Amino acid sequence: MEWYENDLTKALNIKYPIIQAPMASAASVELAAAVSNAGGLGSLGLSYHKIENILPDYKKIISKTNHSINLNFMTHKEPSNNDILNKNFRDHVSKYYEEYGLDTLPNITNTCESFNSEQLDLLLQMNPKVVSFHFGLPNKEFIKKIKELNIFIISSATTVKEAKILENSGVDAIIAQGFEAGGHRGTFESSYKEGEIGLFSLLPQIVDAVSLPVIAAGGIADGRGIAATLMLGAKGVQLGTAFLSCPEASVHPLWKNALNNSGDRETRITSAFTGRPARGIVNRLLKEMDGKENIIPDFPTVGSIIKPLANTAAKKGDEDFLSLWAGQSAPMSHNIPAKDLVEKLIKETSSIFKRINNN
Ligand SMILES: Cc1cc2nc3c(=O)[nH]c(=O)nc-3n(C[C@H](O)[C@H](O)[C@H](O)COP(=O)(O)O)c2cc1C
Repeated sequence: MEWYENDLTKALNIKYPIIQAPMASAASVELAAAVSNAGGLGSLGLSYHKIENILPDYKKIISKTNHSINLNFMTHKEPSNNDILNKNFRDHVSKYYEEYGLDTLPNITNTCESFNSEQLDLLLQMNPKVVSFHFGLPNKEFIKKIKELNIFIISSATTVKEAKILENSGVDAIIAQGFEAGGHRGTFESSYKEGEIGLFSLLPQIVDAVSLPVIAAGGIADGRGIAATLMLGAKGVQLGTAFLSCPEASVHPLWKNALNNSGDRETRITSAFTGRPARGIVNRLLKEMDGKENIIPDFPTVGSIIKPLANTAAKKGDEDFLSLWAGQSAPMSHNIPAKDLVEKLIKETSSIFKRINNN
C-alpha cells in the first residue's frame, strides 16, 4: 500500500490525502476543481456567497471536475448587536473614513448568515461528497438530514475538548487546526486562549483522544510538513495558505504582494477585520487595533464597516485595511498552479517516506 492510501482517502474517494482549505471568497471554483482533478480534495467556502450564487457556482465546479468536492459553511453564533459597542466602534473607525474622504459611515450589519435552513436545502440538493463546517456544527436536525444522504461531515477542533464534542456530534472526520493556521480560528467551545496550541502538540493529543480520522491543518506547506503530520497520526492534511499563492485563487494583488513578501513580515491573530480571531499578515489596522479588542463588535458584523474602507484604501494602493489572511508558513509559498503544487507535495512526501523505508 502507498503512503497516501488510507481509510480517509477511501471514504472521500480521492487519490491523495490533501485537502485544499475552503477559504471563503479566496478559494475560487477554478482552484477547487484544479485540486480535485489533481487527486486531492478541492473545497469551496460558501458562507460569504449570496444564496442565489451557491447553486450556479456548484454547477461550475462539477462542469470542471467529476471528482469529490467539499462544500464549506460557517456555523457561528448570531451576533449580539450591542448598540453601545457598535457606536463606540463606529466612532473609532470614523477617523479612517475621514482620512480617505469617505462621507457615509455605514451601519454595522451582518455580513454573512450562520448555516441556515435555506443553505441546508441547497446543500441537500447539491449532495456533494463532503461538507465541512467552521466554528462548530449546525443543530442535530440538520446533521441528521445531511447524514441521511451519506454526505461526509468534517469540522475543525482547536482543542482536545472540541475534538471530543465533534466526535460525539456525529462528524466523520476532525480537522486538528493548529495555532499556526491562517484565517479564522475554528474555536467554538473553548476560549480562544485555550485554542492557542501549535499543531505538533495538538495533533497527537487529538489522535489519541478520538477514534475518527484526524486531518492536520496549520502551517503545512511542503512534503516535510505532510510526512511529519502523518507520522503524528494524521490521516490527511488541509492546506490553506499554500494554495492562496496559486494563480487560481482570488486574492487581491496587494494581498498577493504581502504574501510574496511575508518572509520579512509577521503574522498575528486579530479580531479587527471581522470580529473573530483570525491570523493574518500584520498591517496598519491590525497594529492599531492591538489591545483594543474590547471595542470590536461580534463576528460577522465588523466587515460591514471595515470592507468599504479596505476597498477605498486598496484602490489608492494601500493594503492598510485589507485582511491579509495567512498562516505562519506563508513564506514557504510557491506561486505555482494548483495542479503543480499538489504534484510537488506528493513528490516531496513520497521521497521522504522512500528515504525512511530504505534506512
Ligand atoms: C484566507 C483563508 C480563508 C479561510 N477561510 C476558511 C473558511 O471559509 N472555512 C474554513 O473552514 N476554514 C477557513 N480557513 C482556515 C483553513 O481551513 C485552515 O484551517 C488553514 O488554512 C490551515 O492553515 P494554513 O493556512 O497555515 O495552511 C481559511 C484560511 C485562510 C488562509
